[in-house]
Amino acid sequence: MGLAQEAVENTMSNTSSSKSSPQSTMLLKVDKVTKRFGGLGAVDNVSFELRRGETVGLIGPNGAGKTTLFNIMTGFVRADSGRIIFQGKDITHESTASIVNNGIARTFQIVRPFLNIPVFDNVLIAALSPHARNASKNVSPSETVRDVLSKVGLLEKANLDASKLTHGEQKRLEMARAIATKPDLLLLDEPYGGLGSNEIGPVSVLINGLSESGITILLIEHRLKELMKNVKRVIAMDQGALIADGMPEQVVNESRVIEAYLGKGGTGLATGSK
Ligand SMILES: Nc1ncnc2c1ncn2[C@@H]1O[C@H](COP(=O)(O)OP(=O)(O)OP(=O)(O)O)[C@@H](O)[C@H]1O
Ligand SMILES: [Mg+2]
Repeated sequence: MGLAQEAVENTMSNTSSSKSSPQSTMLLKVDKVTKRFGGLGAVDNVSFELRRGETVGLIGPNGAGKTTLFNIMTGFVRADSGRIIFQGKDITHESTASIVNNGIARTFQIVRPFLNIPVFDNVLIAALSPHARNASKNVSPSETVRDVLSKVGLLEKANLDASKLTHGEQKRLEMARAIATKPDLLLLDEPYGGLGSNEIGPVSVLINGLSESGITILLIEHRLKELMKNVKRVIAMDQGALIADGMPEQVVNESRVIEAYLGKGGTGLATGSK
């Protein structure tokens, strides 16, 4: 795969139409989506909707199907059945590149920056994508990069090769690459994964800032205590199926969710709320 194509597939892009729509409008509809790998049902008849401007948590134990759902939503994996409707358009069978053009950006559970080029250039590739350009007509790509690097706290590392960053910084770089495409929908796959306790705070502040700026966010996270600070709604999956959808406090206290994480007899999840 060429650098440019990989850049596009890694960072996913966007269009600029979100600001004019009311917050309550439906942005994404996942409708009865199913994916099997061999005999295993990785995603099983999952349906939910995201309204424009929402920040929603997606939780569930290891192997629940969360990342597979992201992969389906971004064209990396084909659904066996069901539909994904984004901004009113059926994107279920679109290529990743085409989904990019519809306004979805994602980060990966395992970071994948271009290690041997500078931090600045990593983000510049995203800022040069056609839809990023479209969304920021009066701002040069370089200005976009500086703005985004400042937001994620990496401006002073702009000239370093990405390989020189710590893991936490690489995760923030990954977010910078996604943000630089000016997404309508941002999919974050475990943004706190592998971070030390001192690295979590700045990422949490960043996510809340992105929420406040109006970007719709779907956020996979195992660190429930941190997640609870970012979201007002949580969707839970287990063994491919959606098992709960509601207010965070309510979802993490549902017996089916506790059981999915801890097995029968589990008494509660560590959410830091009690
Ligand atoms: N490309 C693939 N080929 C075969 N099986 C896969 C593939 N991708 C995922 N799976 C399987 O699908 C199931 C769901 O995996 P997925 O990675 O979506 O889980 P997850 O909820 O993201 O888990 P985690 O919290 O550990 O990241 C797992 O059993 C996994 O092994
Ligand atoms: Mg995963």
